[in-house]
Amino acid sequence: MTTTRFQSATETAEGSGQPKLHIVTFGCQMNKYDSLLVEGKFKGQGYATTDEMSEADVILFNTCSVRDHAEERTFSWLGELKHAKESKPDLVIGVMGCMAQRVGEEIFARAGHVDIVAGTRKFQHMTELVDQLRERRADPDTWRNRDLRLTATGVEDDVEFERGAMNYTGGQHAYLAVMRGCDLNCTYCIVPTTRGRVQSKPMEEIVSEAQWMVSQGAKVITLLGQTVNSYGEELPKPEGDAPRGSGRQGRPSLGDVLRRLQPIEGLERIRMITMHPAYLTKDLAEAVRDCGKVDRFLPIPAQSGSDDVLRAMKRGYTTDLYRKRVAMLREIVPDVELGSDWIVGFPGETDEDFEATLAFAEEVGFFVNYVFKYDPRPTTHAAEELPDAIPTVVKKERNQRLLKKAEEIATLRLGRYVGQSVKVFVEDVSEKNADILHGRSIHGVPVSFAGSPDLIGTTIPVAIQQASAYGMHGVVAVGS
Ligand code: SAH
Ligand code: SF4
Ligand code: F3S
Repeated sequence: MTTTRFQSATETAEGSGQPKLHIVTFGCQMNKYDSLLVEGKFKGQGYATTDEMSEADVILFNTCSVRDHAEERTFSWLGELKHAKESKPDLVIGVMGCMAQRVGEEIFARAGHVDIVAGTRKFQHMTELVDQLRERRADPDTWRNRDLRLTATGVEDDVEFERGAMNYTGGQHAYLAVMRGCDLNCTYCIVPTTRGRVQSKPMEEIVSEAQWMVSQGAKVITLLGQTVNSYGEELPKPEGDAPRGSGRQGRPSLGDVLRRLQPIEGLERIRMITMHPAYLTKDLAEAVRDCGKVDRFLPIPAQSGSDDVLRAMKRGYTTDLYRKRVAMLREIVPDVELGSDWIVGFPGETDEDFEATLAFAEEVGFFVNYVFKYDPRPTTHAAEELPDAIPTVVKKERNQRLLKKAEEIATLRLGRYVGQSVKVFVEDVSEKNADILHGRSIHGVPVSFAGSPDLIGTTIPVAIQQASAYGMHGVVAVGS
């Protein structure tokens, strides 16, 4: 091999000035977190970030596969860049995240101008992949002998980042992944395929990452995981005199994580997404009760209120088990609010099944509801094996009806707060009115009120005067 010119990631295509990175992020909060990790790594290599895609030397797309629409949006964005390399031949275009993992090399077939595809257990090597690509481009033999594209979709690596050396760029609201992957197998879901097996982050790493974020300005930390409350389940159980956690057979649990983060000075709030009902334990409920910084809002997707549909989805619980877990939770944390995701139009869902969902949503009383029309994902059991597809028009109609019901339920739930004083973490000034501040109550409810911007970043009591399905309005409570 003749190496003519090795260009490291610290040099621009032209070899001078600071190279620029632009990342477009689709999908869930974990992707936002991962994009920041990658950004931090590029910055550590001398890159600057740019909001202008046209100025960038490296453009990355962090993608989602959960529904077909999410993938199509990525392809449409990629399409826009088809001719970008004509004016900038050194440009590097990379695709990472869930779609990269699921579709792999086939991305090149639909978007030939993409250079790098890096999956959910390889994206941490993105700077090295960019270097490697540049090295290949600079090698004249490459043009004749080797493909100039790189694909990294293996699942053997742990996702690890050395964060201490980076600057934290997430602002007041930080995301922190405590676990990745999913060991469950809901029949409709692509996530276990894209995110792989569960990998929990060691407790000490979580604590030091949280401290590092707070030392650099984070006030709210949202703990992330595909089934965040299964944290620790796969970690080795402690042997001999090793400290015991509160999880199964002495393993650490999410409750332990909360108890370790609660004392961090400067940290105001701890949030968590997303929970699976099967892992909702008494230990977690008690940790929420005992840790005053933890939001009294838990997203615990029920998906359906019909036992037949839940069975076909292989969710691993019945409505009755769900009810019992919620009753346990509400006994320990009486003021907790709940959120749910729902899938309507799952194969075989009858009118009675759907009515059961409406009734269940009302009975449990969720204040946040995300409703999705079932979308068959390639390779999933539901898409390949389950008959009785529901017509689109029926899905649409059920979607509308559940959204309407959700609005009614939320209006009633939030109406209960009128006349009460709630603890609000103040987040920012309203874009529409500079005298109005926005914040979130300890129950996760958006709250607006008049106040000075000095209050941003603090927790104050607000007396609630009005409520709708989506938020509340009040005044700063006297004496604060
Ligand atoms: N781990 C979480 C959900 C992650 S995916 C849980 O178990 O609840 C986020 C949401 O997307 C899911 O809760 C589900 O409601 C929705 N979803 C996932 N796959 C879907 C599909 N094939 N069609 C429609 N909605 C889907
Ligand atoms: Fe998907 Fe089910 Fe895992 Fe959630 S628990 S990520 S819905 S397989
Ligand atoms: Fe999408 Fe992957 Fe998140 S499929 S929702 S980006 S886990």
